[in-house]
Amino acid sequence: MERTLLIIKPDAVAKRTTGKILHRVTREGYRLCALKPERLTPETAGQFYQVHREKPFYKNLIEFMASGPILVAVLEKDNAIRDLRRLIGATNPKDAHEGTIRKEFAEDGSKNAVHASDSPQTAREEIAFFFPATHFS
Ligand code: CMP
Repeated sequence: MERTLLIIKPDAVAKRTTGKILHRVTREGYRLCALKPERLTPETAGQFYQVHREKPFYKNLIEFMASGPILVAVLEKDNAIRDLRRLIGATNPKDAHEGTIRKEFAEDGSKNAVHASDSPQTAREEIAFFFPATHFS
């Protein structure tokens, strides 16, 4: 069993599609280990995305992620990290395959509805970022 982090971003929360997105995920066999609403500040959004701090889209990304509430989930199943990345689809919905979450719910490559951890190391760090010292059962 493997765990990964899913963020439902401000655009999807504002459009009230969180229920549909969580349904898509749990339908694929993920167990919901933890779920909480959050509101990032520019500082906490900057910490979370510090790997992108040199990128041209960094400022926009931080502003967007701090622009409204988000929903953060820890999801568990075999190959959770790889499979969730496939299920969410490409960063830009124009490039995302039919049937992926971003194809259905994302507006563009920036307001792209969801984030999912991209490696075991990142998943550990991202889960600890939002759920420090939590023991998942
Ligand atoms: P996410 O999977 O959360 O990881 C980094 C985020 O940066 C990405 O989704 C997008 O929301 C945002 N972003 C904006 N522009 C780009 C871009 N050109 N390439 C990659 N990510 C981008």
